[in-house]
Amino acid sequence: MRVVVCRDADEGAEIATREILAELERKPDLVLGLATGSTPIGIYQRLVAAHRARGVSFARVRTFNLDEYYGLPPGHPQSYRSFMEAHLFGGIDVPPENIHFPPTSEKSIVAACARHEAAIRAAGGIDVQILGIGTNGHIGFNEPTSSLASRTRLKTLAEKTVRDNARFYPEGEKQPTLAATLGIGTILDSRRILLQAFGTAKAEAVRRSVEGPVSSMWPGSALQLHADVTFLLDEGSASELSLRDYFRRVRENEEELRRRGAL
Ligand code: F6R
Repeated sequence: MRVVVCRDADEGAEIATREILAELERKPDLVLGLATGSTPIGIYQRLVAAHRARGVSFARVRTFNLDEYYGLPPGHPQSYRSFMEAHLFGGIDVPPENIHFPPTSEKSIVAACARHEAAIRAAGGIDVQILGIGTNGHIGFNEPTSSLASRTRLKTLAEKTVRDNARFYPEGEKQPTLAATLGIGTILDSRRILLQAFGTAKAEAVRRSVEGPVSSMWPGSALQLHADVTFLLDEGSASELSLRDYFRRVRENEEELRRRGAL
């Protein structure tokens, strides 16, 4: 597990973007796993800027979003598809046919989720998965007690998640309480995972995920089972880590090794 305590969210987004662009340069048909919410916006702004200013192309990239609300009509402003259109897809050259979301409207959601898993496999698997984390430790919409081996399926959102997201819904508008999400097992199949978490509201979820026992009560802790996961934190989200100073020393050593060309 690589834990990087950044100066702030901007530095976290900068590091994540640099690593994604390096992967894209190595593999122009990169398979990207994407998250929504406020945390990854800094990455998306930088990817759009790289496309506009330097002509970085996403024409061969395939994308799989982590989750989508169930029951919102297509084009609803709070749907994750609308979010992605506004923050990323509208600003880069990824072809619409390369964009995938977990299913939410098909008649048989179970069969549709199985087809979604098959589509990820057919693309060769997710190369880089971008993640945020909920205050209750959820990754994607894998709420506490989600099986650590779970695959794409419909989940009931936890009370806390519904409350955390209530800010996006005008008073009186019905807020969805179900979402289709990649499973924890699906996420763990990704080759590389970049998780960003910023602010003290995320401090407990980060501590439980990084330093706690692996437990379905804190889904982020399942990432301890992955061989290539990076947590990009700020001082706030890292504030409960007992090994904060150790992680700082690891970063200094990593920078020194990079300067020497050893990494
Ligand atoms: C969204 C997602 C969620 C969010 C999490 C944090 O696609 O998968 O797990 O990453 O709820 O949300 P923010 O970034 O808004 O704090």
